[in-house]
Amino acid sequence: MLALAVFVGTKGRGSNLFALRDAIEAGRLAASIAVVIGTRAEAPALVRARAAGLSVRIVDPQTIHPEEYGAALLATLKDAGTDTIALAGFLRRVPPLVVQAFPHRIVNIHPSLLPLFGGKGMYGEHVHRAVLEYGVKVSGCTVHFVDEAYDTGPIIAQRSVPVWDTDTPETLAARILPLEHALLAESLQLLAEGRLTLNGRVVRVLTDAAAGGTESRMP
Ligand code: GAR
Repeated sequence: MLALAVFVGTKGRGSNLFALRDAIEAGRLAASIAVVIGTRAEAPALVRARAAGLSVRIVDPQTIHPEEYGAALLATLKDAGTDTIALAGFLRRVPPLVVQAFPHRIVNIHPSLLPLFGGKGMYGEHVHRAVLEYGVKVSGCTVHFVDEAYDTGPIIAQRSVPVWDTDTPETLAARILPLEHALLAESLQLLAEGRLTLNGRVVRVLTDAAAGGTESRMP
């Protein structure tokens, strides 16, 4: 059972956050949401989280010395008794102090097939616009472990969708979002079951952790 901290950004609606809550309530994810952390109290995802009775904390890097931001996040995470972090629309780089304190316990959902269309500034609609401008024919979403850079950590799972000639950033985002919701919860459930192993940067899924069973990539 995971004690989750969900990090949300200033712009997101919180749909991935609430998909996690729904998966927990439906018994598909063995976790609790210990705390939702954001940078601005008025962020839509935090407003929704508060209204839903979730525990919300603001750690605002604008009001904290940059060198203290990681320590402030760590204190908040410790206070909430968190053991795992899910980034759900979080725009900032996670401070090294936090990455080091949660080795392979931080996952991010990104709305493209990484390593394509990731990196600093590649967020939400910007990603889908870049996909359409480049002209790729397939896009999708990726759940990966978080390292100290943007979108470069080991890939846990991906889902793909076709890109149509008639797509706009909005239609492409709408096709991918339901897959994000499912993939984030499924990936965290594998983590909860202790079924994710790393070989270099390649993540494999244990088919039967208890039996020390065989490994495969996540389908
Ligand atoms: C999601 O599409 C997520 O993949 C994306 O932000 C959106 C947040 O929406 N994250 C990134 O682009 C990270 N680089 P939500 O608030 O409805 O979950």
